[in-house]
Amino acid sequence: MKQREGFSSGLAVFLVTLSSAVGLGNIWLFPYLTGSNGGAAFILIYLLCIAIVGLPVMLCEFFMGRRTKKNVMGAVTTLSDKKAFKSIGYLGMISTAMIAFFYAVVSGWVYSYVFKSIKGIFKDVTTEGVKEIFTSHTTAIFPPAMWVFVVLVVVSVILISGVKKGIEKVTKVLMPILLILLVICTIKSLTLPGAKEGIEFLFKPDFSKVNMAVIVSALGLSFFKLSLGMGTMATYASYYTKDSNLYGNAAKVIISDTLVSLLAGLAIFPAVFSFGLDPSSGPSLLFETIPLIFSKIPGGSVLIVAFFLTAAFASTMAIISMMEVLVAYFTEEKNMDRTKAVIMITSITFIVSAITSMTVSGGVLNQYPLFDLFDKITSSIFLPLGGLLIAIFIGWFINKKDFLDEMSNGGTLNNTLAAGISYAIIKFVTPILLIIVFLSSIGVI
Ligand code: PHE
Repeated sequence: MKQREGFSSGLAVFLVTLSSAVGLGNIWLFPYLTGSNGGAAFILIYLLCIAIVGLPVMLCEFFMGRRTKKNVMGAVTTLSDKKAFKSIGYLGMISTAMIAFFYAVVSGWVYSYVFKSIKGIFKDVTTEGVKEIFTSHTTAIFPPAMWVFVVLVVVSVILISGVKKGIEKVTKVLMPILLILLVICTIKSLTLPGAKEGIEFLFKPDFSKVNMAVIVSALGLSFFKLSLGMGTMATYASYYTKDSNLYGNAAKVIISDTLVSLLAGLAIFPAVFSFGLDPSSGPSLLFETIPLIFSKIPGGSVLIVAFFLTAAFASTMAIISMMEVLVAYFTEEKNMDRTKAVIMITSITFIVSAITSMTVSGGVLNQYPLFDLFDKITSSIFLPLGGLLIAIFIGWFINKKDFLDEMSNGGTLNNTLAAGISYAIIKFVTPILLIIVFLSSIGVI
């Protein structure tokens, strides 16, 4: 059998996993959902979702991947001979593909904004100006598709280079740069006059805005954010070293990812308030607000390049993790050559994404809202459903002893109590909570 690749160290395990979690979710979705759902109250619910659902599901996926050292489908079929659980594999692959279809479009917008900022298009731009630039870019036919192509070429090159020489190597360089760039943007934003209002908005809870829809969207965000419910984390965990600490890694990844989201919030909201903009302006928050802000502050023309580069790096690494789920499946289950699998998967993604990019509001195909459909269906149905199946699978069909054994690396780590509590949560709490939220999201309760 072909020798299976793997990551080289604990640091690599942490950074690569974080590179899947950190993405447009932190920089694009988190600020805009927080802005439109009541600020800090939304963040608190989001944190609860992560604690009760995110961490347990992440541990389940780590277990599946590292225990079997296989792609998501290989993992479920190795762990159980019940055919029904193949649905975890199929649903996971459908979800990652659907997410990639709209995610690559937004990533393409980000790439084009890097280019636009380098060209200096946003210098002295007005409020009407940024709106005009955004709309004319996103509703065009050719440029968005071309940028999706560029994104996918970058993704393909890294994927073809392999797990260690491609994914790991690039992540080790890009993740630290990303963090530094983000911190610089945050500091700049926090020192603007009137920044206090933005900080209050992020940290002072307004519970009057909280309803079931807000809870569903916080839960959806926590899955999307942590790349859970579709086998992405299981796939990456299949490349972990035998001595990596699964529990510790999950905690580190979740905490770091949340800090990155908060940093992005702190980079965006103080500036939004400082310039009297609308914090709940939706997805355009990133593409309209950021250029406007940076056009008004000293050094802004350099910082804006930094900001969109950060977003471009983050989105590229996230797409790589989605594609790897499929690449691992086709190479291991269908014996396909890695290069061939990558080219096939990214080509299909390119075609569907290019079509999807024309379905955004104002686009030529906007009567078929594929973009919104892929986003909504995955976040509010497929990912929570995937998470539910995974929790039931691990909680009810896997031996507790095996779970504890994997969490403690065969008894060498002293974490039986924590892992035992997590197992109980996976078995009872996570499924019940997910069922309630799921039924309510499809309107049954
Ligand atoms: N977690 C990524 C983000 O926040 C998105 C993602 C979803 C990545 C699914 C991989 C799989 O942007």
